[in-house]
Amino acid sequence: MQEFSFPFILFGGDYNPDQWDETVLEEDIQLFKQAHINTVVFPVFSWAKLEPSDGVYHFAWLDSILDRLANAHIKVILATSTVSQPAWMSQAYPDILPVDIEGRKRTHGMRAFFCINSVSYRKKAKALATQLAKRYANHPALFGWHIANEYGTYCYCDYCQEKFRLYLKKRYGTIEELNARWVTSFWGRTVYDFSEIMLPTALNDDYRFNPAVQLDYLRFMTASTIDCFENEAGILREMTPGLPLYTNISGFIKKLDQFALMPHMSFAAWDNYPNFSDGSHLVALKHSIMRGSLDGRPFIVAEQTPNQQNWQPYNKLKRPGEVRLLAYQGIAHGADGSLFFQMRQSLAGQEKFHGAVISHGGRSDTRIFQEFSALGEELESLKDQIVGSRVVASVALIFDWENWWALELASGPSKDLRYLEQVAHYYKAFHALGISVDVIKTTSSLEGYSVVLAPLLYMMKDGIDEKLKEYVAHGGTLVGTYLTGVADENDRCVFGDRPGPLSDVFGIWVEETDALFPNEHNGIKEGEKIYKSSFLCDRIHLNEATAIATYTKDFYAGEPCITHNFYGEGEAWYFGTMPEDSYVLEFVTRLVKKTPSLVFCEVPSGVEMVKRVHAQRGETFLFLLNHNNQERTVTLPGAKDPIDVLTQKKVEDSQIVLPPRGVAILSYI
Ligand code: GLA
Ligand code: ZN
Repeated sequence: MQEFSFPFILFGGDYNPDQWDETVLEEDIQLFKQAHINTVVFPVFSWAKLEPSDGVYHFAWLDSILDRLANAHIKVILATSTVSQPAWMSQAYPDILPVDIEGRKRTHGMRAFFCINSVSYRKKAKALATQLAKRYANHPALFGWHIANEYGTYCYCDYCQEKFRLYLKKRYGTIEELNARWVTSFWGRTVYDFSEIMLPTALNDDYRFNPAVQLDYLRFMTASTIDCFENEAGILREMTPGLPLYTNISGFIKKLDQFALMPHMSFAAWDNYPNFSDGSHLVALKHSIMRGSLDGRPFIVAEQTPNQQNWQPYNKLKRPGEVRLLAYQGIAHGADGSLFFQMRQSLAGQEKFHGAVISHGGRSDTRIFQEFSALGEELESLKDQIVGSRVVASVALIFDWENWWALELASGPSKDLRYLEQVAHYYKAFHALGISVDVIKTTSSLEGYSVVLAPLLYMMKDGIDEKLKEYVAHGGTLVGTYLTGVADENDRCVFGDRPGPLSDVFGIWVEETDALFPNEHNGIKEGEKIYKSSFLCDRIHLNEATAIATYTKDFYAGEPCITHNFYGEGEAWYFGTMPEDSYVLEFVTRLVKKTPSLVFCEVPSGVEMVKRVHAQRGETFLFLLNHNNQERTVTLPGAKDPIDVLTQKKVEDSQIVLPPRGVAILSYI
């Protein structure tokens, strides 16, 4: 899809004005102006109001809101409203209601309660999208389209069952091929006809279903979601060519392969709701994954909250400065849009306590409103300076949804296996050192990267093994871990030495893997130092590799746990166990010393550093984000004096002082 260029940083977000009358709407628009909001997204949940009965559309109320916003020069991302169908529709077209994994046909009630494959749903959703496009295509407020909302409903209805069989037939051609791919000979599950294939539900299994079947079900659900998205996107593209369209991806969901979905969108868009205890590296990783979904193109944060949520167990207020920091973190990592949920607090319902820019009080002299509008003013002053610039990284991390699914579907070796947490564990050290990491796909090119991280690269697919071998042979540095090179794309284990086709690159073979209990540790002995290790312990045999560190405990004490190998012109490191943070940090510090260009300057602990480069203008933006509650000083390399973009002052003496939760954007030309 054609690359979309943002004219300015989108700022604003979800607005649900169908909950109140026009006087409130007028007040809201005044407050939006005060807050420097340039974009609002609505009506996300208004299908019942837009189509009160079959084929009868009611748009007058929407016309009036759009007109008022146009007069106020506020842009609208029009939501297609197809995430919660009207009650009459569920009644008239019962095939819309989904069936859950327990086999229960759901009744009408909740939002996002529809079968993504339902023919009636698709027909009605497309009709509504068509009506909206017809009516508003040339409306001056219209900026783009927000399709549905946070897809992710799995369905197990008979129709999905039927479609799953067709999907498999297309994927594998013959039943023999399917049997071979799924290794149905295990536990005697051979099928002789596609009609014998069942969706993996709680009715036919107790979650010990063949992981290969589950893997394909997840692929099928992703493919179905893409079709469901395209059902609306196709018509909108046709009727409003040039306008961007997207759907917002929930938090960070494992359910849908976002690397598959995003290429159908004009830009990646995700909803960022970190838990109070999430480290800043985890949020940074998620931004990097989203940026990676469209190979580095600018994305948007489609939702984040201007204050507390309502759905956490304990809903902490956003501390002073936190919203600004959260927004700039997204921008630093490549976002050209910083949208929030929501503009005015809901009148009632589930989310009445969810934070909003305008709370029930309707005042502008609240802490949150003031912080939000100050942020809006700052972003407005940036105009088009930052949009279109890109994060530049020399380190890549391979991430893959199917790998995620397969790893977590596996029974063993440890129930504590969480792919995202594992990936974050290795990403964290780079983040701490201010080294940007590009998250890439198994299909991405590795050219130009000094270091490639491939944590838990369990699934060998897309020729990734050959690509990694070539990369290392030509001088690249690869870092791999336990649970690498185990299975193929159907989760069939690779016969032969582990880590499978990558054994040569790492110069080792792994005989067996021990799982540690949650509070159990082994030790990593490197020289005289000992570090803690946890989770898994591979018993490694060295071929060409050398042992960098050895285990300190158990019957495999003294055996290698971290290894290094020269392969061609490059080198490969292997982690047979999960080291504590400090070991990874020291390891990465040593690793990057070999490539000094990776480090721009040292950053104090808790200060995040990311670079965005505007290639055409030859301008580099250095984002410095202080996640600490105390002031921090960053000493910059002295060669050039940058301009602090937010204060328009030249940085003196290469020193920049960041207040608690402070942000600076330095421009180098
Ligand atoms: C999601 C939804 C929104 C809202 C927020 C609340 O991201 O898309 O409609 O429910 O959560 O945090
Ligand atoms: Zn269904």
